[in-house]
Amino acid sequence: MHAMDRVIAQCLTTSVPLIGQISQYIIAAGGKRLRPALLLLLARALSCDDQRRFDLAAVVELIHTATLLHDDVVDESTLRRGRPTANENFGNPASVLVGDFLHTRSFQMMVAAGNMRILQVLSDATNIIAEGEVQQLINTHDASLTEAGYLHVIRSKTAKLFEASAQIAAILAGATPEQEAASVIYGQALGTAFQIIDDVLDYDGDAAEMGKNLGDDLREGKCTLPLIVAMQRGSAEQSALIREAIEQGSTDKLTDILAIVRATGALDVTRQTAHDEAMRAIGALDALPAHESTTAMRQLASQLLLRRT
Ligand code: IPE
Ligand code: IPE
Ligand code: MG
Ligand code: MG
Ligand code: MG
Repeated sequence: MHAMDRVIAQCLTTSVPLIGQISQYIIAAGGKRLRPALLLLLARALSCDDQRRFDLAAVVELIHTATLLHDDVVDESTLRRGRPTANENFGNPASVLVGDFLHTRSFQMMVAAGNMRILQVLSDATNIIAEGEVQQLINTHDASLTEAGYLHVIRSKTAKLFEASAQIAAILAGATPEQEAASVIYGQALGTAFQIIDDVLDYDGDAAEMGKNLGDDLREGKCTLPLIVAMQRGSAEQSALIREAIEQGSTDKLTDILAIVRATGALDVTRQTAHDEAMRAIGALDALPAHESTTAMRQLASQLLLRRT
């Protein structure tokens, strides 16, 4: 992970001071570095000692960082990694443009890695992430979104980058087709569980611990799984209240909605869905070699369910 962080520090060189300033601002604030961790763990489990793994781990973290810069503009979020968001501090135009810089820098680094399949996986992934974000935008204020519609969005906007991180580790390691397929399933299921928990934490988390605000999803009129389940399980009156809040994108009734989400058991049901995905991730690991990194990946999947940050 230190080697990956060194690559990130080196690859941000530019003659334009604002780029360095904003990228340092968000990258130095931390973050869990989960996607590079997944890539490096999997590479080790598959006995890969190719030095390019550190460059590719940096690439996936840069892509992630670029999506966060854009995401906070789109979501009008004001807190990220315990700090005011880049858009709050430097404005929307600078955040969008520096996001573009990080995105395109990541593509320069991918090309330098010189592996056409890896380039294909990552270019497909970034394209699907964008599709997912646009689909989510279309779904805004739609209280009739189904669980399948919700899952489709999160598999695209979030799970795809976890999936790609896993797949490129397998490709770089020269894994068998079976091992690569298992890696893809692990990444997809882990990423799906990760976003489901993120959506739970938007109702059930602690802003100080998470370093981002609660209620952002409702304010945006985003119909996430906790609300879908609460509308299914609640009384007609309770469902109507949630439906209205989604349609209006209003947090005025956030306290009431939180009470309904809790009373209907929607948070537990949603956490159970995340749990099922985490178990699917763990199951896929049976196809990988027994290794301390494979064990760590099992632990990663189960501990992710308990995350508070
Ligand atoms: C935030 O991702 C965006 C989502 C996909 C939910 P992370 O929770 O991995 O963000 P950092 O990098 O740790 O801040
Ligand atoms: C993650 O979704 C979207 C990305 C893939 C960038 P969110 O919008 O829920 O992420 P947070 O909660 O702002 O981190
Ligand atoms: Mg957001
Ligand atoms: Mg978002
Ligand atoms: Mg969120």
